[in-house]
Amino acid sequence: MKILGIETSCDETSIAVLNDGNVLVNLVSSQLLHHQYGGVVPEYASREHMRMIEGLTIEALERSDCSIDDIDGIAVTRGPGLMGALLVGLSFAKGLSYASNKPLLGVNHVEGHIMANFLDHPDLEYPFLCLLASGGHTQIVYVKDFRKYEILGRSVDDAAGEAFDKAARILNLGYPGGPIIDQMAREGAPTFYHFPRARIKNEASNFSFSGLKTSILYLVRKEGKKWAEIHLNDLCASYQESIVDVLVRNTIDVALRRNARRLVLAGGVVANSRLRSVFKKAAERNDMEIYFPSLEYCTDNAAMIACTGLELLRRNQCSSSDISAIPNLSLVSNN
Ligand code: KG4
Ligand code: ZN
Repeated sequence: MKILGIETSCDETSIAVLNDGNVLVNLVSSQLLHHQYGGVVPEYASREHMRMIEGLTIEALERSDCSIDDIDGIAVTRGPGLMGALLVGLSFAKGLSYASNKPLLGVNHVEGHIMANFLDHPDLEYPFLCLLASGGHTQIVYVKDFRKYEILGRSVDDAAGEAFDKAARILNLGYPGGPIIDQMAREGAPTFYHFPRARIKNEASNFSFSGLKTSILYLVRKEGKKWAEIHLNDLCASYQESIVDVLVRNTIDVALRRNARRLVLAGGVVANSRLRSVFKKAAERNDMEIYFPSLEYCTDNAAMIACTGLELLRRNQCSSSDISAIPNLSLVSNN
């Protein structure tokens, strides 16, 4: 079965074609114009998606040697995300589905991040414990089966990706902050400064990252910009270490309490090199299996949307043509 995947929930226009779980093509066009604003400007995001989506779809079909007639289903992100951005992808998918008479498959973006693991690990088995860490979400989810989710922990304020992005803004490093901090941290000492590791009282499985962001803001104010520039690599390494430490510790804690032996990581923050290596060691120490997607499937991409769409089609869970975009769609109220 061939699935066309369409992703436009934030600042990446992405189109993919999947053939039975094999990615034939996964095109991602990142909107660089937001960099100058230090974050995503929703109106510009929608306009960029509109400018890119048709050409990218044609290119994806050509590169995968398919025509729309060869496609068995059209999978598209319907939420969560920016309303205007989601609407561009969803309206385009509906039009294509109507014109070509192919089933429409509305996909939850967060579920897509989790399912991305099956692209690299088709033999991955349920159940597993998943840490989802992206720019908008930080959650620990027990995944019993496809679409059977139990949320065991979440951030009570900022998401882990946001914590990276906000620190990068404070340090004048640009947007998105995660990849830049990851890069700079490689040359720095994680023990240079001890940033706080917030633990929510009596709830080891919840996260809080807003205090961390405030702490780097006050530190830079106190020591001065010149000092921060001199110690940039060390600051990045120390700040990153605090986020990695909390993510790994809470996830392992929950896994031990639930007696979960299989860990799965998902979302843009999982592209972080330090997070991947610390998690691997922690899983080994605790005798747990660990899975994470290859780098290209960690951050936003349409292959993960197509992969989720394929599962929906296999289960005959196609969407009606009047589904709406849902900016705050949650994992547990998927339908
Ligand atoms: O999953 P994603 O692409 O989009 C959302 O669904 O939010 O995640 C984007 C987030 C951004 O906050 C970005 O800074 C972060 O993932 N990110 C990283 C890295 N690459 C992307 N954070 C840390 N290290 C990275 N290498
Ligand atoms: Zn995402």
